[in-house]
Amino acid sequence: MLIKYNIIIIKYIFFILIFAILVVPAYSELSVEETIKARKALFSKNYSTAKKVQTFVSKGELEKAKKLMIEMSENYKTLIEYFPENTQEGFKTEALPSIWENKDEFNNLMKKSSSDMIELAAVIETTDNIKSTLGKLMWGNCKSCHTKFRAPH
Ligand code: HEC
Repeated sequence: MLIKYNIIIIKYIFFILIFAILVVPAYSELSVEETIKARKALFSKNYSTAKKVQTFVSKGELEKAKKLMIEMSENYKTLIEYFPENTQEGFKTEALPSIWENKDEFNNLMKKSSSDMIELAAVIETTDNIKSTLGKLMWGNCKSCHTKFRAPH
């Protein structure tokens, strides 16, 4: 009787182990993939939003532009969470190892990009050089981050 129960318990443990071995890595693999894909999607979205900002500003539709600036600012804050240690390679990521070697610098650049978009929204109505303001507070941050932290593409 006792032996029979022991065998049942051992079988249970065995199945749980097999389940853990098969499912856990598959799950973490998926979440790495999801994380990388999600951050790529967010960057692409920011790119198309930035182009729209440029267009609205040049047409003088500043209220619409400002709404998108705030949206970009929020996206930058979200992006900080999308670079955990286990997402350094795979799934066609262009993220460079320098991100994880200089995590504070990278995160600070993300935060600066975010607060620069808020500043942009605040000054866009009164600036007398729209092109250089957009360059300094929006496009400049893309470039300074990509130069150091994104692979040439
Ligand atoms: C603080 C750093 C940082 C800033 C600021 C930044 N990027 Fe990026 N960007 C990256 C990194 C890192 C990647 C690579 C992500 C990956 O492949 O996993 C990337 C990838 C991209 C991609 C490719 C997405 C894809 O589908 O592979 C585009 C497009 C892009 N960025 C546009 C922009 C634009 C436009 C701006 C400015 C408005 C900007 N980025 C600002 C770091 C930054």
